[in-house]
Amino acid sequence: MREKEFKRILVTSALPYANGPIHIGHLAGAYLPADLYCRYQRLMGRDVVYVCGSDEYGVAIVVRALGEGTKPQAIIDRYHPLIKRSFAAFGMSFDHYGRTSSPVHTDTSQDFFRRLASRNIFVLKTDAQLYDPAAGVFLADRFVKGTCPLCGYEEAYGDQCEHCGTSLSPSEIINPRSMLSDAVPERKETTHWYLPLGDWQARLEAYVAAHPEWKPNVLGQIGAWFNDGLRDRAITRDVPWGVPVPPDVAEAAGVEAHGKVIYVWFDAPIGYISATREWAARQGDPSLWERYWKDSASKLIHFIGKDNIVFHTLMFPTMLMGYGDYVVPSEVPANEFLTIEGKKLSTSRGWAIWLHEYLEAFPPDFLRYALAATLPESKDADFSWKEFQARVNSELADILGNFVNRALTFAEKEFGNTVPPLGSPSVRDRDALDRLAAFPARIGAAYERFRFREAVGMAMDVARLGNKYFNDCQPWKTRKSDRQACANTIHVALQICAALSVLVEPVVPFTARKLRAMLRLEGVRSSMPAGHADAWIEWNDAGSALLKAGHALGRRSLLFTKVEDAAIEAQIAQLSGQPGDVVSALPYADPKNTVDYDTFAQLDLRMGTVLSAEHVKKSKKLLRLEVDLGYEKRQVLAGVAQHFEAASLVGRRVVAVANLAPRKMRGLLSQGMLLMAEDREGRLSIVTADGEDGSVVR
Ligand code: 2FM
Ligand code: ZN
Repeated sequence: MREKEFKRILVTSALPYANGPIHIGHLAGAYLPADLYCRYQRLMGRDVVYVCGSDEYGVAIVVRALGEGTKPQAIIDRYHPLIKRSFAAFGMSFDHYGRTSSPVHTDTSQDFFRRLASRNIFVLKTDAQLYDPAAGVFLADRFVKGTCPLCGYEEAYGDQCEHCGTSLSPSEIINPRSMLSDAVPERKETTHWYLPLGDWQARLEAYVAAHPEWKPNVLGQIGAWFNDGLRDRAITRDVPWGVPVPPDVAEAAGVEAHGKVIYVWFDAPIGYISATREWAARQGDPSLWERYWKDSASKLIHFIGKDNIVFHTLMFPTMLMGYGDYVVPSEVPANEFLTIEGKKLSTSRGWAIWLHEYLEAFPPDFLRYALAATLPESKDADFSWKEFQARVNSELADILGNFVNRALTFAEKEFGNTVPPLGSPSVRDRDALDRLAAFPARIGAAYERFRFREAVGMAMDVARLGNKYFNDCQPWKTRKSDRQACANTIHVALQICAALSVLVEPVVPFTARKLRAMLRLEGVRSSMPAGHADAWIEWNDAGSALLKAGHALGRRSLLFTKVEDAAIEAQIAQLSGQPGDVVSALPYADPKNTVDYDTFAQLDLRMGTVLSAEHVKKSKKLLRLEVDLGYEKRQVLAGVAQHFEAASLVGRRVVAVANLAPRKMRGLLSQGMLLMAEDREGRLSIVTADGEDGSVVR
């Protein structure tokens, strides 16, 4: 159903928070689908701009910094480059990847805020909010933890209960505690700007009603919000990290601007605009961004995970309509969640697969394919390493790789590594070519409807078609009995290979490039930004014969190497808190040799308390701890930085080996060691006991 022709497409992926690396849950939600879509659209020759960037404000980043005893700036400076690099290595084809701490973003956000304020779109409210008297700060969002008023979960955050998914405000939390000092918060008056979404409900309902084609999971969530009735949402915060509320706006409203910032969910979507502005400047045409944001012939598409639906379908559209001049999102293809080995992904429990770690073990295309084939498009989906292995070995290698290898081997051995001519094609030859011709449009239709699993499955069907055709033709027989029939088979098979090199490009771009080099196929439009303008082969050409008879082919090599069991087992072992069957399969550490009592009694084990903990510079593993042994304080270097948050160790009761010979590490003296239990998966837990500091443990 396409009522309107669009001239250009602006695609965004949710800006990831720069407070941790990217994991496969992120990829399956907002990133891989968008990349597939953009690459397909570029191959179609469409005008696409794809922007993203790091979301660098918000209380979560402040909390993380506090936990590590560092500054928010240090956190974002650590993760923004890591995220950017791993996205690039994974083949994400952004036209621009920005960051919300950029000056352009401050400017864009403040301009938005100012304009909406001047149009009287906001309301100001003064009310009592939670305040930490010990830390001297208001407790916005994740600065508060406590019991969820809806489901009773005791670890709910001030802005959201991760157990039942409800979005909350700090004052609704039962038994709130400050994340900063653990103090019981007080209430103190403060003034904030609110976006009165209720005033916009009728307009938003009309906007959403114009999109019956949106995915049912998206429409379902929006419907629930409408039923509840939209409420005012505070869009400023008293926190020391964020885009400052424009001082002129605050002054005009008679509010002290100092210490007030724009709420992260107000500035983050504006980050899409900022990134487009930065992109335009880099193109040497600073006003070019406006064509994508302000011309009604532009189609705006937000790829997000389901937890971001309300912000992209209600809040951001309100902001855009409130500003005026802007287009509103045309499509918001939100995905559901990805589970790993049947369990909910959890970064705090280590139940996650990190992109940068994955990339150390396997090529990007393996994960791109395996994930694309199981995307949580309409319901939650599961990623398992065994299925990953099966997708790579029995689909990529056995179906696609094998077909290409058979065709190229025959061409090399029988036809001097050239494309043999097609002469008097048989019914079977013509049928294969006819079927091939239908694929680009069919696969394309799936891409247009955001049905990526289907699109990827159909692309693999092209290789299946190739294998079946090859088997049916039996060129290993006709090579002697009927040279022309054999030549026809290889000719047609090579055309299928050439088509594949275009049709699998969105999902496995690195492989597609390798395949085109093997075929020496030139002129295919790039699926990356700013592809060569002189290309003459586009997506829809992939169904016709791309290789001429007599064309000299390139060097053949294997497209894929299979994934061994050992490599998969290593990955499974790396997931902590694994399912029971995997745990029981892991061996226990070997028993050690017997020692006599006197040898054991030589150890001086003491109770102690960790006074402070910090990272040792330039070391991934070491933490520097100060431990109180009662009779003296010690500096202990412990190789546990990858197991514990430094801050979480402060105050912990530990058992120390007090008479271990001191040792220097990284220029620092370690005076002792702490006892830890290491389970079979290498997870550590602290050995502890009651008893005052200095108590002897025996
Ligand atoms: O949920 C998140 O990870 C947010 N950082 C997404 C922001 S999307 C957009 F609005 F920028
Ligand atoms: Zn809850």
